[in-house]
Amino acid sequence: MKSLALLPIIFTIAFSSPFPLEIISSRSLSSRGLSCPPGGTLPSSHLNPTLMVPIAASAPNHAFGGTQTPIITPNDFCTIFDLSIPPSGVGKTCTLEFLFPALGQTLTPYVYIGEGHFTFTGYAFGSGATEETTYNNQPPAGPSPPTPPSVLAPGHAYTINVGPCGIQPGASSLEVSGKLCSNDTTFSYYQNDNKCPIGFFVTIS
Ligand SMILES: *[C@@H]1O[C@H](CO)[C@@H](O)[C@H](O)[C@H]1NC(C)=O
Repeated sequence: MKSLALLPIIFTIAFSSPFPLEIISSRSLSSRGLSCPPGGTLPSSHLNPTLMVPIAASAPNHAFGGTQTPIITPNDFCTIFDLSIPPSGVGKTCTLEFLFPALGQTLTPYVYIGEGHFTFTGYAFGSGATEETTYNNQPPAGPSPPTPPSVLAPGHAYTINVGPCGIQPGASSLEVSGKLCSNDTTFSYYQNDNKCPIGFFVTIS
């Protein structure tokens, strides 16, 4: 259980209020006039994640529950993102984006340390994480984005996947989900759709 000793530290970074990061936040306050990265804004009809659940290889049976502050650490913490496609997606195209403003472009502080290599792993359509999900009890495997970016760096907006929304006529919703992991980067942020938005979003077109 040695690895569990680190958890309080990680909790402090990831799950406490953003106030310990106030210095970063107030620095960006002074530059609030800056524009978002190209493509880094959202239409009013965007979808936010419905649930975000960290899992950790070092604590494989621990359920961290839902958070607004996803955390990724090198080869350990990943965060699972659930999204719910509504009936308006029938016959439409869904675009999964990761919006990542630079610190000066967002009022939301974040921690980003490392080379920035990330992986996206999809789960089966119609499945997703719950508050009880653990590393050892992840949703069933499913299709992953075919050509995701391999690097996420501040100051960019990334398209992770584009495809049919998949929701069938008559269905009330379709849950889609996937996890974000990294082999070399510690990343934790507050998912937020205020200007400039940061995190995973789906737009329907
Ligand atoms: C992480 O993965 C990338 C490929 O996605 C690779 O280029 C890089 O060397 C890896 N870094 C480490 C520390 O393993």
